[in-house]
Amino acid sequence: MTTHPILASFELASQFVKNRAVVAPMSRASATLQGVPTAAMHAYYEKFAAGGFGIIITEGLYTDTVASQAYPHQPGIVTPAQITGWRELATKVKAHGSLFIAQLMHAGALSQHLTHTQAPSVVTPLGTKLRSYGGGEGPFPIPAAMTATDIRIAVEGYANAAKNAVAAGFHGVEVHAANGYLPDQFLTAYTNLREDEYGGTIPNRFRIIAEILAAIRKVVSADFMVGLRLSEGKVNDDHYRWPDGAVTATAILEEVIKVAPDYVHISGEGSTWEKLGVYDNNESLTGMAKRMVKRPVIANGGLEDLAVAGRALQEGHTDFISLGKAALANPDFPVRVAAGLPVLPFERAMAAPFPPLEA
Ligand SMILES: Cc1cc2nc3c(=O)[nH]c(=O)nc-3n(C[C@H](O)[C@H](O)[C@H](O)COP(=O)(O)O)c2cc1C
Repeated sequence: MTTHPILASFELASQFVKNRAVVAPMSRASATLQGVPTAAMHAYYEKFAAGGFGIIITEGLYTDTVASQAYPHQPGIVTPAQITGWRELATKVKAHGSLFIAQLMHAGALSQHLTHTQAPSVVTPLGTKLRSYGGGEGPFPIPAAMTATDIRIAVEGYANAAKNAVAAGFHGVEVHAANGYLPDQFLTAYTNLREDEYGGTIPNRFRIIAEILAAIRKVVSADFMVGLRLSEGKVNDDHYRWPDGAVTATAILEEVIKVAPDYVHISGEGSTWEKLGVYDNNESLTGMAKRMVKRPVIANGGLEDLAVAGRALQEGHTDFISLGKAALANPDFPVRVAAGLPVLPFERAMAAPFPPLEA
């Protein structure tokens, strides 16, 4: 019997990972209104750990109480109660031998929680609020352009959140610079019209991401993992692709090299890994990231297809695959693959917040 390459172990930043299967970050908008994980969330995360996932990345956690929160029931990693809640949950997850990573998220202009939002520039976001996440519906507010002080406070929020993630017992953090949230709003030319050192060229638009990673590195030990998630598509603009494909990807990855994350996670938001960034140079975006950044890569997007996942791993396009919707349908995905059991289909209702929303 041959075993699927997804089941092979890996050494990630000197941490043993039992296989290549990662739970992708998924917002469930199911925490208490104080942003503390509930009992239902404990059970939800522990199921993935018991189901054999090598790495579990949390849903996006808000990083400060100033301007980062995305949804009313989003969990945070800011207050003592939140840190305690995550510490209890992390203990359960780690008991199964999974690595547990906290995703750090600042919503910027895409907050559905705040009426006064902050963003790189005064640009009304495309699209409308996601009704299922709470916080009303309809258009997003028009954001205020962040001052240099606002940017410093946001960056400090990430560093503080990372310190709190250490205290909560996480193995690392993932900086969410994908899918249209604050760091991605800086990186994207149409939401960043700034004329200062945070706008204009790609190195300038990447600057806040570099500052966030540097600020985090300053407050955590060298063995605490700091990953980076990037994407082309956005929750509110899923058809968006980097202009000039490989040219922009190369320029962005040149900046990623300098910040040396412990891993690069490329989100398949609005697409699939197979369709992502197959540019004129005929390389996958994840393969380019691996070749250029020389750090482990997590690929994402429809990778529950075992033939595609096997090819992505075996042909050196990626080191890990992360599963979103398929993990909701198959919280025991690695156990299923090992046992040759079928992968169950995802249904929309599986992504809904856990009822009832606790106050
Ligand atoms: C319910 C749901 C919530 C999500 N929330 C987040 C999130 O908090 N942070 C993030 O980076 N991506 C989030 N995503 C995107 C997923 O991580 C993933 O990129 C996307 O689902 C595509 O992967 P898949 O084809 O395996 O589902 C979310 C996706 C879903 C379905």
